[in-house]
Amino acid sequence: MTDQPTLRDGDLVLRPWTLDDSDVTRPLHDDEIARWFDVPAVTPTADEHRDWIRRTHVEWSDRSKVTFVVQWQGQAVGTVDVRVQDPGVGVLSWAVYAPFRGSGLAWRAVRLLVEWAFDELGLERVEAHVNPDNRASVSTALRAGLRREGRLRGNASLAGVRQDTLVLGRRRDDAHPDTRDGFTAMLDSTLPTKRAIAQGVLRSVSGHVLLCELVYKREWDLPGGGVDRHESPAACVVREVREELDLVVTAGPLLAVNWLPALHGWGDATVFVFDLGTVDTDVIERAHLQQREIRDVHWTRPEDWDGRVAPYNVRLLTALHAHDGGTIYLEDGTPTA
Ligand SMILES: CC(C)(COP(=O)(O)OP(=O)(O)OC[C@H]1O[C@@H](n2cnc3c(N)ncnc32)[C@H](O)[C@@H]1OP(=O)(O)O)[C@@H](O)C(=O)NCCC(=O)NCCS
Repeated sequence: MTDQPTLRDGDLVLRPWTLDDSDVTRPLHDDEIARWFDVPAVTPTADEHRDWIRRTHVEWSDRSKVTFVVQWQGQAVGTVDVRVQDPGVGVLSWAVYAPFRGSGLAWRAVRLLVEWAFDELGLERVEAHVNPDNRASVSTALRAGLRREGRLRGNASLAGVRQDTLVLGRRRDDAHPDTRDGFTAMLDSTLPTKRAIAQGVLRSVSGHVLLCELVYKREWDLPGGGVDRHESPAACVVREVREELDLVVTAGPLLAVNWLPALHGWGDATVFVFDLGTVDTDVIERAHLQQREIRDVHWTRPEDWDGRVAPYNVRLLTALHAHDGGTIYLEDGTPTA
């Protein structure tokens, strides 16, 4: 049986736990560690801690889990481990003792462990399951080069309270986190994504605005819809009008950008409203409406909107009606300036 190795990155060393480490490290367990590992006692008893160290040796021998002391400038400052869950997949865990936190030791230790696990344990993927409120651990995982992959709702409990879990992962064939591609992918995985909606204003020769009566909601709305991934808002409104009304339009000038706050279970959204020009009303009468979404279309004037159009859209349409050129910026249908 081979001995568990010692790994080095400058002044940071990962080495196997020994029973001699117990007296020094046991009192360093604090309520942060107890909280996030959901253990009742902050400081383990001497017996518990020594049993835990012995268990790390057994786990090394069958390679079910590999645990290292994190040693920095000669002192034991924390622990990192990788549990082999499925062949090729390792689940990471870490802790740095309170006096040593905030110096970038955690992510360096995790990075060193991950590189070794890919090279020597032959893992294809590592992942970490982190409570979303554990901000230091989320940062640790990202800086170690894991990408945020998703959020499992209510799959864990902490102190008896149901909790979500963030899953962060790195595959062996991912671009290395030190490369531009790897860094970009890591950052991209964690930046907010916003819903974008593109809509268009089609006017009749007599100045009426076209609104759609929809199958799935009561209020009439401008034609348009949700912008797809990697689709521009302008391309979206052209596609949506083709799909909904069977009409070929060109996205003209941007009339308004309207930010909508979260409402009725929907997240917030940014609406881009384009000028689609003026058409003869019979163009629409000849159009084929997409029955699945559009019940009917109506040429409207301001007096038709109240009661038929959602209040935030009445505000938008009213602002557009009063506006004479350029792009207006609105929040919830109201101009901010
Ligand atoms: C998570 C932990 C290991 C981080 O250790 P650390 O050595 O302080 O980590 P680092 O110095 O590498 O800092 C990592 C990041 O966390 C940030 N951070 C540290 N403490 C923080 C806090 N209380 N709140 C928010 N961010 C925090 C740091 O600023 C850094 O972020 P940055 O890279 O964006 O600057 C340590 O806090 C710990 O042991 N916590 C208890 C055990 C635990 O939660 N384990 C994980 C279970 S999944």
